[in-house]
Amino acid sequence: MITETKVVPANDTAEPMLQHRHLLGLSTYSREEIELILETARQFREVLYRPIRQVPTLRGVTIVNLFFEPSTRTRISFELAEKRLSASPINFSSSGSSVSKGETLKDTAQNVEAMQIDMVVIRHPSPGAPHFLTQCVDAVVINAGDGAHEHPTQGLLDLLTISDRFESFQGLNISIIGDIKHSRVARSNIHGLTKLGANVTLCGPKTLLPVELDKFLPDSTIRITSSLNEALEGSDVAMALRIQMERQGKNLVPSLREYHEQFGIKVQHLEQHKDLVIMHPGPVNRGVELASDVVDHERAVILNQVTNGVAVRMAVLFLLSGAAKGEG
Ligand code: CP
Repeated sequence: MITETKVVPANDTAEPMLQHRHLLGLSTYSREEIELILETARQFREVLYRPIRQVPTLRGVTIVNLFFEPSTRTRISFELAEKRLSASPINFSSSGSSVSKGETLKDTAQNVEAMQIDMVVIRHPSPGAPHFLTQCVDAVVINAGDGAHEHPTQGLLDLLTISDRFESFQGLNISIIGDIKHSRVARSNIHGLTKLGANVTLCGPKTLLPVELDKFLPDSTIRITSSLNEALEGSDVAMALRIQMERQGKNLVPSLREYHEQFGIKVQHLEQHKDLVIMHPGPVNRGVELASDVVDHERAVILNQVTNGVAVRMAVLFLLSGAAKGEG
């Protein structure tokens, strides 16, 4: 596995490229690599507003989107990014496939690869599934969310959205509120934000906060609190996370109504904190993590996050495509 993470030119004349062959998570990506992806995404974002929203950059590159879990934003966004770059996307859902007949992930992936593909985008309920895939196929692998582990392109699109509103991450105060324990979005954001110099506060009920966080990020100065008011005090951005009923298995919050009372962001919080920007990765449970009028508030940038998702995924696909073509 590649552990060194500096950005290197492919040769004397080429553009800078990523040191990694795959995108499995932000934990191993360097600050420079993350900044390169964000800068590349800013350039690709311009394509989305052209009359003809397509460039020939990945013509001839075949990408399979393997989705073993439901998705709206990530799936559509990856497919759109691939089409905007003129790649050839193939979509796969576990439901309706031979997975429902008992085929393993390894066999599924190797059979798909036997049809000559270059890149695989995978969402899977098991943490580590994308990493496992790198050992089964030669294609470049991009993690589109693996269990409660990481969701790196979500973390990157969140970083891009924050950078649209603030000049620098250095010293910026970001609160991540909700189900931290089960959240791959929180993990990718923690890695990305701390690498870029932001201060992170994690807030949620004690049952939804990870135990032994100090072992997860031994050198971090991450603040943890179960008080929403304490988390929001001095925050520039509040990132609310979805309460994941499907992943919790048991009742870790007394009721959704009580959760909203204690941890839901309401208009009164926006009135108290005049510059606070609201983010949410989606899908939102209106009236749970965010009051419905907060979702629609002008300081909520939830739909900007979605737009930035396409640009970030174009950047990731482009920057990793050199490895898919055997360059670099
Ligand atoms: N944010 C996110 O991953 O949404 P989807 O589950 O709809 O892809």
